[in-house]
Amino acid sequence: MSILDKAISNILFLGGNTPLTIENSESRSTIPSTTSLIRDSTQEYLDPLKKIIDQDVKIIASSEIEQLCDETQKIRELFFNILPNYAYNRAEIVRECPLERILDRDVYSSHSAEDIIDPVSEKRIHETLLEADFSLRLGIQPDELKGRFKKTYYILDRDTQPLGIFKPQVKKWWRFADRYGAAEEREAHLAEIGASRIDQLLGTRLVPYTTTLTLKNPEPSTEPTGSFQFFVHSAPPLYDYLQGDNLWADPKVMTHSLNTPANHALQLRNFEDLTFLDMLTGNNDGHFKNILCKPTQDGGLQLVAIDNGNAFPWCTDQDLPFYKRTPLHTYKWRALPHAQRPYSSEALHRIKTIDLQSVIAAMRQVLVDTKTPSSLGHMEDKIYTLQDRYETILQEAQEGVPIADIAQSIIDGKPDDDQDDFFFFI
Ligand SMILES: Nc1ncnc2c1ncn2[C@@H]1O[C@H](COP(=O)(O)OP(=O)(O)OP(=O)(O)O)[C@@H](O)[C@H]1O
Ligand SMILES: [Mg+2]
Repeated sequence: MSILDKAISNILFLGGNTPLTIENSESRSTIPSTTSLIRDSTQEYLDPLKKIIDQDVKIIASSEIEQLCDETQKIRELFFNILPNYAYNRAEIVRECPLERILDRDVYSSHSAEDIIDPVSEKRIHETLLEADFSLRLGIQPDELKGRFKKTYYILDRDTQPLGIFKPQVKKWWRFADRYGAAEEREAHLAEIGASRIDQLLGTRLVPYTTTLTLKNPEPSTEPTGSFQFFVHSAPPLYDYLQGDNLWADPKVMTHSLNTPANHALQLRNFEDLTFLDMLTGNNDGHFKNILCKPTQDGGLQLVAIDNGNAFPWCTDQDLPFYKRTPLHTYKWRALPHAQRPYSSEALHRIKTIDLQSVIAAMRQVLVDTKTPSSLGHMEDKIYTLQDRYETILQEAQEGVPIADIAQSIIDGKPDDDQDDFFFFI
């Protein structure tokens, strides 16, 4: 029996139900059946087990492709059905090694294939999606970000480095809560994906690539499907760069306190695009920790817009339910010195020339989910309010209104429309 065969049968055996005695030149140890091991999970048993598995995985990972080919089925069974239940070092499956090729030819060839790079996270799109799927199949558990109101997880690669943020669809059991379109929490994952799609369409390069992800074995309390946004490394929040007493305060009272030379000096490269995208999509959760900053080589900051789950409301901010109103966060950037002036002529040109019909088509594609009836029911209102916000931005930008004041006009909404609806309803 070759060393490889031995390593494979060792682990296959560990996946069984009988106690196992393992002998090597150094020691002899008896390990109880796997089922009881997983149940008991005591360190006494897990430590020697982990050592044995690590050794065997090392042997398999360093074997030649010819040897591995003969055992393809067994190896896949090992890594995708048995080993996911065990702690071992998945980083042993190094990129482009023969074992990776045996396990998943697509993952293997993705390293050399032509791939589009997401300009915001700078990650290769196809490769990152394949890696996320691969690491989940290898049993790398999503890592929950603790202490949050909503469930949020890091999806890790096989080196346990974050690939992206997974936000499962929020479960809601009460019916009336479905009334508020994407301003409703159970549609937040769709809004995250929608914001990314529209960012790509407009070429604003603000939102990290975001798409749908479905977990095969989610925790019982977690919905399997949600949004998966690529992780941006080395990008601290704008909050860390700003000078000011209380950066969570009402933007209206912060304009004065943020008006310092240090804040003025911050070169926020794509600030105008960020304000436009936020207002266009109606995202009302843009606080300073939801804007990340990638330092540029020439001393500036390239802004990144994360956490877009509140975007695409079907009504104006004034009409949102109390639990979805975030008056202290809405367009928080309007308190910055950078927002106290009109749009530049370049930004105005970009605003004027966007292809609104493509934006609307993308919304119809991304923001609907047949399992979430409100996402179908409020689609037209979401489009209507977006068009409304766009008209306000365009008109006031052309009149030279400061960006902060345009934001205020958007927040105030158009009361006459609401009145019409009201009388019509009566
Ligand atoms: N794409 C990303 N790249 C890097 N870090 C990210 C990314 N998305 C989220 N994070 C980090 O994870 C944290 C939580 O993410 P996010 O703000 O999207 O979730 P949340 O739970 O809705 O937050 P909030 O507390 O604002 O409601 C962020 O504050 C940030 O530190
Ligand atoms: Mg956040």
